[in-house]
Amino acid sequence: IEHLETRIKTPEKTVEKLIRQGFEVSPESAKKNLHDIGGIRIVCSFVEDIYVIYENLCRQTDLKIVGVKDYIKNPKPNGYRSLHLIVEVPIFLENGKRSVKVEVQLRTIAMEFWANLEHQLRYKKNLSLQLLRSTSRELSECARISAALDMRMQSVRDIINGK
Ligand code: GTP
Ligand code: MG
Repeated sequence: IEHLETRIKTPEKTVEKLIRQGFEVSPESAKKNLHDIGGIRIVCSFVEDIYVIYENLCRQTDLKIVGVKDYIKNPKPNGYRSLHLIVEVPIFLENGKRSVKVEVQLRTIAMEFWANLEHQLRYKKNLSLQLLRSTSRELSECARISAALDMRMQSVRDIINGK
């Protein structure tokens, strides 16, 4: 693991997402309908490490993987890549045990680099339509190059490790 980030969705963003997705706005509704109030992002150097961590999480008996979206094998149309898991974990409170769902995003440094820049473009509201289109095309080309780089770096490591 290169680095790891955790975040809790702010109340404002939680309310905004409930409204956007057409759910009732209440704490119970948020607990039931949103699976990314707690989020963990695990950034690795190599693609293989992502799947090693995934397999290890699958073997862990104190948590349950209830959802998998593999945007590495199936990137989004814009080029976004990452492995997304929804994981159910027990938390222990004064009045007993409760299970909560958290979103785990696993990605390489290259995927993280790309996603952070794409995120900035997404929130850039004052670009002309023309510049937005050409920049999206350029980003999609960067995604292709970054996926190729991940594969080549992985191949070099496989050779170093005698695989
Ligand atoms: P959300 O309503 O955003 O949670 O989407 P979803 O429930 O359909 O899940 P999805 O797996 O598509 O995305 C969940 C999270 O992954 C987002 O909140 C982002 O953090 C990240 N993500 C997904 N797609 C993209 C993308 O195209 N670009 C970037 N930068 N991040 C993305
Ligand atoms: Mg989300």
